[in-house]
Amino acid sequence: MRVLGFESSCDETGVALVQYQGAGLPTLLSHALYSQIDMHQAFGGVVPELASRDHIRRVLPLTQQVLTGAGCSLDQVDVVAFTRGPGLAGALLVGAGVACALAAALDKPVLGVHHLEGHLLSPFLSADPPQFPFVALLVSGGHTQLMRVDGVGHYAILGETIDDAAGEAFDKSAKLMGLAYPGGPALSKLAEQGDAEAYKLPRPLLHSGNLDFSFAGLKTAVLVQAQRMVASHTAQGEPMSGAAVGTSANGSVPGYEALPLTARRDLAASTQAAIVDVLVKKSLVALRQTGLRRLVVAGGVGANRQLRAHLDAECAKRGVRVHYPELHLCTDNGAMIAMAAAMRLQSALERAEKTYSFDVKPRWPLNRLHGAA
Ligand code: KG4
Ligand code: ZN
Repeated sequence: MRVLGFESSCDETGVALVQYQGAGLPTLLSHALYSQIDMHQAFGGVVPELASRDHIRRVLPLTQQVLTGAGCSLDQVDVVAFTRGPGLAGALLVGAGVACALAAALDKPVLGVHHLEGHLLSPFLSADPPQFPFVALLVSGGHTQLMRVDGVGHYAILGETIDDAAGEAFDKSAKLMGLAYPGGPALSKLAEQGDAEAYKLPRPLLHSGNLDFSFAGLKTAVLVQAQRMVASHTAQGEPMSGAAVGTSANGSVPGYEALPLTARRDLAASTQAAIVDVLVKKSLVALRQTGLRRLVVAGGVGANRQLRAHLDAECAKRGVRVHYPELHLCTDNGAMIAMAAAMRLQSALERAEKTYSFDVKPRWPLNRLHGAA
């Protein structure tokens, strides 16, 4: 069976073709991705209307690219899958509309997929795929969740963020530091040569006794620290232009970008350490509570090197295996959507239907997914 998948929930247009036979793990035949990051950078974040329009521009050339890459023609596609939610409504509608129109024209069945299930199952595309059951740490721009995963569709949420997601904490802190959107990769690059212990930043809910997260306070602590650094630098005789309080038009702390590079590296490293520390410690608690010895990390923040290094080190000490998606499949892509569709179909959780009227679910909790435990 060949599944053609479309991802368009936010600022990446992804298309991919996966194939499966019997109960064997689906394999990726070809995938293509277009990231809109450059377009949104000028605005400091995703502009939904621009995102939708750009998905329309990219989706058909990407589909052609995928088919050419796989050496397949459209009539060799058996099922068409698309991201049904969660995400930006207009952006989701582009993928849903194209997928359903294509399936109708080909007389093939269609299946809407949950974006987070795509992230969750993306490590099955790696050279070192996990086995069920496992604890999953899902860390993306919009979600931070710890889950117990017993099989496809069997997801029990153990804990989640009560405010900002981990990716949001990276992005918002990076913005205060004047770094370009999306801030996660930029902040972690700047942090590479910084001292992670230079500034004491809060680790919210670290000892809360449950598996929930909270990152909104960290952003405030970073803001206060950045303002303090600017004030002390100015007091040392470096005049500063602009207001000393609040943020500049680009959302950064006024005067911050003029601080010495070492100080900026140190705050970036300290911020990253605060986020990573909480993610690692809570993952270890989830492993201890469930008694499971396998951890799967998925979502954009799963690309973070410090997070990977700390998880690897701590899990190795405890005899726990850690699985990640391939680096290029951590952030949004079509392969994970085609994969999730293929794994759902294989496990007979759901059937693809020749029903071409569609809707999207901009808000869609993972535990309300059809077939979820
Ligand atoms: O999973 P994803 O592509 O989109 C959502 O579904 O939200 O995740 C995007 C998030 C952004 O917040 C981005 O800053 C973050 O993942 N991210 C990173 C890194 N690469 C992407 N955060 C920290 N370090 C990275 N290397
Ligand atoms: Zn995502």
